[in-house]
Amino acid sequence: MRDLPGPAERMGVGRVLLKDESSRFGLPSFKALGASWALYRALHAHLGTDLEPWADLADLAARLRPHLPLRAVAASDGNHGRAVAAFARHLGLGCLVFVPAGTAAARIAAIEGEGAACTVLDGGYDAAVERSAAEAEADRSGRTLLVSDTSWEGYEDVPCWVSEGYLTMFCEADEQLEALGAGQPAAVVVPVGVGALAAAAVRHYRRPGLGRLSALVGVEPVGADCVGQSMRAGERLSLASYRPSIMVGLNCETPSLVAWPLVSAGLSALVAVEDAEAEAAMRTLASEGVAAGETGAAAWAGLELLVGGPGSRARRSALGLGPEATVLVLCTEGVTDPAGYLRVVGREPAQLTAPAAGKLGAAAPEPAGPGS
Ligand SMILES: Cc1ncc(COP(=O)(O)O)c(C=O)c1O
Repeated sequence: MRDLPGPAERMGVGRVLLKDESSRFGLPSFKALGASWALYRALHAHLGTDLEPWADLADLAARLRPHLPLRAVAASDGNHGRAVAAFARHLGLGCLVFVPAGTAAARIAAIEGEGAACTVLDGGYDAAVERSAAEAEADRSGRTLLVSDTSWEGYEDVPCWVSEGYLTMFCEADEQLEALGAGQPAAVVVPVGVGALAAAAVRHYRRPGLGRLSALVGVEPVGADCVGQSMRAGERLSLASYRPSIMVGLNCETPSLVAWPLVSAGLSALVAVEDAEAEAAMRTLASEGVAAGETGAAAWAGLELLVGGPGSRARRSALGLGPEATVLVLCTEGVTDPAGYLRVVGREPAQLTAPAAGKLGAAAPEPAGPGS
């Protein structure tokens, strides 16, 4: 958890806290939380046997050995697939990951580096999801487990477990905010792809018995804002036209079935950001010593749009973003495409340094774009 006083002062809020997920179980995104829990629960359900007790991954792998061969299959923009591949490897399972056209070479190499086979498809995320489901379906031996972060009619358990795994992050954030004397945040800003992460945020911050409610803001890319467009239409829909952004983790065409009721009822607002705004956010975070990937910086870009530009006074008042407010922003990913990072930020992650305490460190915000 990073406390960023410089940006908080510039934005006119009490405190800005950034949950930095650039390293989670040695992987560069929060996705490991959902993939590990979902794979575990899927194995449990598939084998119909209790795998406990086990002390660590090696122990669990030994318990699984008599049931092998098994393999996991997933669709991914990079992060979820890499996480499924990593845990499949830890447990001795094979793994096959389908990624959309245009996936950066570094992200494919990272998936393959975990020992998985990676197939690049012609279409977008929906095409990868369909192909992964078909692959699991085609395996009549029943030895292939589909570990998808999105859901559809008849495929709901695993994606619920993925979202459940993400809750860890919010429970941790509670403890960290408490330790920093910040308590319940006035607003929480999360990136939104298919909505599994946002659904976890809703479950956490809208749980019964919680005192003051936080404003929950979702951030999507302009051109791949399937949740925002579904919200406006009043029903879950697939985007008729889709423009992939550099925020690849958010390049989704259809909200997840199980996430939709939660996000549509629980989000206070959705913001759509342009690629240029995400790039500006990467640079701002770099100036704070945080190496955020394109998708990781999306929520920050959304916060910049909320507090700056035309109409910001009304937005601030609607969302409670006053001078006393604590804002929690999720930075869900570190650098997953080093070449892209260098192009945008002009420095390697290892060259970043945090500003000296007390200095107003952040760059001026970019002007709000047309998609704001
Ligand atoms: C880094 C990162 N952040 C956020 C998200 C969005 O999560 P969800 O698809 O659950 O909305 C993703 C999804 O892949 C991601 O990779």
